[in-house]
Amino acid sequence: MLENTRFLDACWRRPVDRLPVWYMRQAGRYQPEYRKIRERYSLLDIVRHPEVCKEVTMLPVEQLNVDAAILFSDIMVPVGPLGVQFDIKEAVGPVIESPIRSQSDVDRLHLYDPVAELPYVFDTIQMLHRDLKVPLIGFTGGPFTLASYLVEGGPSRNYVRTKQLMWSEPDVWQSLMDKLADMTISYLTAQIDAGARAVQLFDSWVGSLAPEDFETFVLPVIQRVFAALEPHGVPLIYSGVVTGELLPLIAKTGATVVSIDWRVPIESARARLGSNIAIQGNLDPAMLFAPWSAILPRARAIVDAGLAAPGFIFNLGHGVVHNNPPIETAILRQLTDFVHAYSSECIAQSVAKF
Ligand code: CP3
Repeated sequence: MLENTRFLDACWRRPVDRLPVWYMRQAGRYQPEYRKIRERYSLLDIVRHPEVCKEVTMLPVEQLNVDAAILFSDIMVPVGPLGVQFDIKEAVGPVIESPIRSQSDVDRLHLYDPVAELPYVFDTIQMLHRDLKVPLIGFTGGPFTLASYLVEGGPSRNYVRTKQLMWSEPDVWQSLMDKLADMTISYLTAQIDAGARAVQLFDSWVGSLAPEDFETFVLPVIQRVFAALEPHGVPLIYSGVVTGELLPLIAKTGATVVSIDWRVPIESARARLGSNIAIQGNLDPAMLFAPWSAILPRARAIVDAGLAAPGFIFNLGHGVVHNNPPIETAILRQLTDFVHAYSSECIAQSVAKF
């Protein structure tokens, strides 16, 4: 039963009594409980076991007192049934057996019925929908980011092969984008039908593109995905890193909310996105390794800038970083508690002024 709607209210730029908070990668290896589960289950095993997946999704919600849950999964999960063999290698990321580099490779990718091929994902969402008191965010990878793994065969620094395909064979690129877009639309629609109350496209690596390339090769496909999802009436979130210069174009995607990283001041993101889009961000995740005395003024500044206009969600600028020794859960809990307390104080004061 949904009790706390602050996250959804902020997505729609409605008034809130305090800023909603959640953290990208709030479930993961920094948690001792997650590391324990990972001794018995691989990441993909967790996804395939709804009971375990539900537990992993709910754990940070309880521990960190955040205002939204994010489905535990990976951006690669919906790529498997397209006919792509992949593995998620520890400390590396997704690795693909046979990269997609030609029209015949693209032709071999087959669209599928998500509920038939990935039933466990939707079973997990239904269970979460029943038990969570905060909204559940569904997600998948953005088309450029998925294409970068499919074309490169794994993580990449410069995305040379991906961009080479984009520039030298724009028709092949377009048909790859079209297939990924169709897959994304059916997969996210099924997530919404099962109970996801918002959906996020993680287009993490799109910031590697020049604005004109984003505009030509990626923007139209995001517009098509969001236009198809818009009638479902849930917030549509677009996120990437190093996207500062792309924000005026990202404003045209049809996103309800845009995630920004710590390289972009909130005021300039707002100026570039316009007043109809909510913002999510943007503490540097590396700051979680700093002392609280260093984190506090930055968190306060984000709250101050965030509250200057309707529609702000406190988050990190990218996912929680795993390192040795890992951050402690307590630091994230302290951050949530601070943002809740400080933002509610600021909001109460500004209301009292009128
Ligand atoms: O609470 C959550 O947010 C967790 C759910 C989640 C995972 N992956 C689980 C995961 C989410 C939202 C993702 C998205 C994802 N996956 C993105 C977009 C977000 C981003 O960080 O930019 C990307 C690019 C991927 C691809 C991917 N999967 C990478 C780069 C890695 C890290 C490799 C490593 O070991 O450092 C993964 C693996 C992965 N996905 C882990 C988790 C918790 C860590 C490895 C593990 O538990 O085995």
